[in-house]
Amino acid sequence: MRSTSSRRPPALIPPRVRALRAYVPGEQPRTPGLIKLNTNENPYPPAPGVLAATRAAVDGRLRLYPDPTAEELRRKLARLHRCRVENILVGNGSDELLALAVRAFVEPAAGRRRASPSRVQFFHPSYSLYPVLAAIHGATANPVPLDADFALPTPARLRRAGRWDFHAALTFVTTPHAPSGRGYRTAQLAALCRAQRGVIVLDEAYVDFAREQALALALRHRQVLVARTFSKAYSLCFQRVGYLVGHPELIAALHKIRDSYNVNGLGQVAAAATLDHLPYYRAHFREIIATRQWLSRELAALGFQVFPSQTNFILVRPPGWAARDWLAKLRARKVLVRWFSDPAVSDYLRVTIGTPSQAAALVKAVRALWPGVRAGSPRRRVTGRG
Ligand SMILES: Cc1ncc(COP(=O)(O)O)c(C=O)c1O
Repeated sequence: MRSTSSRRPPALIPPRVRALRAYVPGEQPRTPGLIKLNTNENPYPPAPGVLAATRAAVDGRLRLYPDPTAEELRRKLARLHRCRVENILVGNGSDELLALAVRAFVEPAAGRRRASPSRVQFFHPSYSLYPVLAAIHGATANPVPLDADFALPTPARLRRAGRWDFHAALTFVTTPHAPSGRGYRTAQLAALCRAQRGVIVLDEAYVDFAREQALALALRHRQVLVARTFSKAYSLCFQRVGYLVGHPELIAALHKIRDSYNVNGLGQVAAAATLDHLPYYRAHFREIIATRQWLSRELAALGFQVFPSQTNFILVRPPGWAARDWLAKLRARKVLVRWFSDPAVSDYLRVTIGTPSQAAALVKAVRALWPGVRAGSPRRRVTGRG
């Protein structure tokens, strides 16, 4: 009998997973005292009523499974969006829902096949999770480059350029766009939705800070889903609750493949309570938008190129040093912003809009680092349309 020690151990991890480059989330620092402007969290706490409702749910019920279909939350969301409960699926953050959409609507690619049924399509740059989800599923990613101003191309333009697949099984569109913050008109999105044959997810993670929203498209078109989250605008990142709105046929398909209890109980309670306090949150949206305008002007005056934003963050190109060096220099001054290694955006920093005092602290740190701007560097404007 041969000794087992001379044999190579069997490969436990399939090549697809071995080759996978995992999504890199923004840093959640353990160092106290950092001004955290790196992961687009809301700087304001949840409404007091939401905290009270969540606290009140911490009792003997913790031993029970939560509602498997998040019925109360879906009923409230249906009332808010004037649709049916069957139009809504709740998830463990919208990230889970994006992953479910890949699993539900895309066939893993067999061999090197690049056919539309295995294609996950998205603009590049956009949310860097999309290609990771495609790779996890063994699907083919089809990243289609955006122009330098991050504008949404028309279907005619996409047709001419030739790289867009109007039959891709699944298309993700981040709207407003991330990481630029650029807002897209609903009419433009509608044209794209009409042209698309496969499922299209409009990822509206930041829509509460925008001028337009496209949820009506999900109720009008059979192949359109809109993804929303309680994380950013509704100060509930910690609880992980997002939802999809769309045709009952798509929603039912997603229900079939989700985990039975995919949304934790306290998250359901907190999200449902949030919908009872919308005026509280809307006041903060206005505050964040005002701070966004102030910070954009200040950084532009200091020589930064600032993209107009309809989100709770801004994308900026810093003057002088490389963006990565700015990241380190700002961190040394206790301000944490986001830098992406992707060459499409590696010259930029993404800055979350915090409170007015957090924004002022960032400007103060920039001024201390970059006094050169006063010695005659050209003032830059907030460029382009939001
Ligand atoms: C564009 C976009 N979509 C979706 C998400 C996921 O949000 P969550 O899973 O917290 O709902 C994010 C988070 O950063 C995002 O930037």
